[in-house]
Amino acid sequence: MGEAGWATERQRTAIARSRLSVPARQAFADGQLLSGRRILDFGCGRGDDVRALERLECHVTGWDPHFQPDSQRSPADVVLLTYVLNVIEDQVERRETLRAAWALATAVLVVSARLTWERSKVNGGQLGDGVVTGRRTFQHLFTTHELRQLVEDITGSRCVAAAPGIIYAFREETARLSYLARRIAPDLGWTGPDDPSTAVESLVRYVERRGRPPRLEEMPTAISEVIAKLRPAILRNLIRKTAHPELIEASARQSTLNTLLFLALELFNGRGRFTSLPLSIQWDIRAFFSSYQEACRRADRLLLKLRDDAYVRGAMSASRVGKLTPTALYVHRRAMDAMPTVLRLYEHCAAIAAGRPEEWTVVKLKHDGRAASWLHYPDFDSDPHPRVRSDYRVDLRTLEASHRSYEGSTNRPLLHRKHEFLAPDDPDTALYQRLTAEEVRAGLYANPHLIGTEAGWEAELARCGRDFRGHRLVKREWDHPSG
Ligand SMILES: C[S@@+](CC[C@H](N)C(=O)[O-])C[C@H]1O[C@@H](n2cnc3c(N)ncnc32)[C@H](O)[C@@H]1O
Repeated sequence: MGEAGWATERQRTAIARSRLSVPARQAFADGQLLSGRRILDFGCGRGDDVRALERLECHVTGWDPHFQPDSQRSPADVVLLTYVLNVIEDQVERRETLRAAWALATAVLVVSARLTWERSKVNGGQLGDGVVTGRRTFQHLFTTHELRQLVEDITGSRCVAAAPGIIYAFREETARLSYLARRIAPDLGWTGPDDPSTAVESLVRYVERRGRPPRLEEMPTAISEVIAKLRPAILRNLIRKTAHPELIEASARQSTLNTLLFLALELFNGRGRFTSLPLSIQWDIRAFFSSYQEACRRADRLLLKLRDDAYVRGAMSASRVGKLTPTALYVHRRAMDAMPTVLRLYEHCAAIAAGRPEEWTVVKLKHDGRAASWLHYPDFDSDPHPRVRSDYRVDLRTLEASHRSYEGSTNRPLLHRKHEFLAPDDPDTALYQRLTAEEVRAGLYANPHLIGTEAGWEAELARCGRDFRGHRLVKREWDHPSG
């Protein structure tokens, strides 16, 4: 359908952007917009994402029925469908548009739409399943689950929520699984230099980090050319002599758990064939399990444990990191990977179902019922008692998400005992622990029911005559009348 048939002024929804849109930024950060790939921005509006991506040396074209109707709509590796579906009034046309965009995507389709939590920003009268604003623009705000379902329906593929309101539909299983694997362990690839003179040293570091030797295919070419010339027995000898066995052992344990986590997450998202798994995961399975079947059995058990209240509660009590309350475990993002594997799985399942927000500081995992919240405390590092800015919550039973912003709120919840959210060996833990001890001595925790929000905490600080200088508690200086 051309714009002549539009029931509202859809083109007016296209804003000028001074920076890359959130979905394009996410896809770029996720390595989906690599420079060798062709990208089509379908419904590109004024074309600012196209120009920004060109500056990032991407090979990109844009098409828009209003702004760029004459531009080519050729197949591309990546098709971006950014905030288009929500401006279409007609449900059938929404589906047709999605189908047309998918038909052009040879590797991945990135679909984004505005979500229900923006309802308060969209005023106007009801039209069909959306709202018509005073400027005669239309918005259908999606729930996270509805958007994912729609994309799964039309593409017939298993989708992953990259972030709230941003869905990836992959053409090939292998690409989806590689993406999931990178989400679980982004740094497990080759990280050393690709300088042939340090090839053996880099290889040893890899073994210490991953718990197994790399295959030639996992190395940069410059390194693999050197390593390929060494006889396997000599190589094994070199590794045995120079690598730290306790590091290899600890990494092998961690890689085993990461593989289990991946396979359980994969089961949650829909299990693929062994041959669709990223090669490095296939090699991990061969190195750390007796067979793929055994690995799958253990991963299935892990996913089942996620449904077991007593098990989850036990894992939370045993967790080396995080603050356990009567209803949930709270963990700082820096400490997340140190959680027991079943809890990492809990967080990852919620994230692929409804997206992990771009900005967050602490994750909250409920143990009565299943819901994960990502809480954002922008001043966590600098403020001894950080105030919450937003809370994005995913209910794992319904896969629906909700969002709460505390911006403009005058009495925000705040954190105490910051060290409890971090790992014991975090560089900041000791500093925060000292502060908590001083606060306890000063009597600031005598009335715990009063201190959960800003006003109550301020009142207790005043009662105890205390203030902060950085992360030190000091006596409050009262204002004296001058003269
Ligand atoms: C909110 S704007 C988004 C523009 C751009 N993707 C961005 O994020 O800046 C919605 C755009 O969708 C375009 N549009 C409307 N109906 C469309 C359809 N059926 N297919 C493709 N694009 C459409 C409009 O012309 C408008 O430019």
